[in-house]
Amino acid sequence: MRALVTGCAGFIGSHLTEALLTDGDSVIGVDCFNDNYARPEKLRNLEEARQWDSFDFVPIDLSRGELRDLVEDCDVVFHLAAEPGVRASWGSRFDAYLRNNVLATQHLLEATTGQPGKRFVYASSSSIYGQAESFPTHEDTTPRPFSPYGTTKLAAEHLCQVYHGNYGVDTVSLRYFSVYGPRQRPDMAFAIFCRSVLRGEPLPVFGDGRQTRDFTYVADVVRATRAAASAPAAVGKIYNVGGGSQTSVAQAVELLEGLVGRRLELEKCGMPEGDVRDTSADTGRAKADLKFEPSMDFEDGLRLEFEWMQSVEAAQPAEWAGTRSS
Ligand SMILES: NC(=O)c1ccc[n+]([C@@H]2O[C@H](COP(=O)([O-])OP(=O)(O)OC[C@H]3O[C@@H](n4cnc5c(N)ncnc54)[C@H](O)[C@@H]3O)[C@@H](O)[C@H]2O)c1
Repeated sequence: MRALVTGCAGFIGSHLTEALLTDGDSVIGVDCFNDNYARPEKLRNLEEARQWDSFDFVPIDLSRGELRDLVEDCDVVFHLAAEPGVRASWGSRFDAYLRNNVLATQHLLEATTGQPGKRFVYASSSSIYGQAESFPTHEDTTPRPFSPYGTTKLAAEHLCQVYHGNYGVDTVSLRYFSVYGPRQRPDMAFAIFCRSVLRGEPLPVFGDGRQTRDFTYVADVVRATRAAASAPAAVGKIYNVGGGSQTSVAQAVELLEGLVGRRLELEKCGMPEGDVRDTSADTGRAKADLKFEPSMDFEDGLRLEFEWMQSVEAAQPAEWAGTRSS
């Protein structure tokens, strides 16, 4: 199989790319090194993929480039490129969210029209639910995004439905829930926590720390994403991809304290605008159609992310982490 992976230099996209290459698929990887975090971190994410002859890297911006030839050249499209993150999506940065989440997705969908049978797997987000009406949250729950980011992810999901309904594009949307693991984006909580622990700095904890998330290990997300590319029942559908447990931020901090064998200093911060109180995925539909069940134990996954951060901190200049590239 020849796969197009957009956002291949990102956290999840780089793991997906490597999993495909390892199993003998060839990959065309697209990324524009968006400035949501430092370019050297994205180049590092790509290091492993670049060892493979079956990997071609195309450095284009999906919101601007000519895409039809790229799509024609592959059997399946995994669309993970986006401007991620709730907290930065306010104010003037929203332009980038519109361009990279909505416009880029529309361009890619447009380029996929007229190619029947080509699967288009879109990485959506639990952020489309906002403060969800019920837990665990089912896909049929009314989406009520609580952030500009969530709004753009939902708009792109709707575009997938629109291109499926009108042009028969074989879209599948996957609502990922708080993904963690090695290479996690530097703006995400566990990356910040692990880095702070290793630098002897206090851990910034938002709110009272009792907010919960359905944390999902990145390898589980990759498995669900690949299953969505081939499962016959998935076409035109939307699936939650969750890790199977609800953990509070305070519980995650306790686990980290267990890992390092000491109490950690916390810095209390207010709840940022756009952050929701709780998330929890009903993954029954993904289990039925994609045969997806998360397999990573949360404590083990957190330890793997911590060990990864130890290797990163040992190898890189401190000023890379958490900075924008421009
Ligand atoms: N990380 C999570 O917890 C999480 C949760 C829900 C959904 N998602 C979704 O999963 C996907 C991957 O997220 P991530 O955490 O790996 O983010 P990431 O920022 O690490 O990766 C996204 C990549 O897309 C690239 N990109 C952005 N705009 C582009 C454009 N116009 N053209 C080409 N490349 C572009 C970026 O340079 C980046 O390398 C995103 O769609 C995100 O919305 C992530």
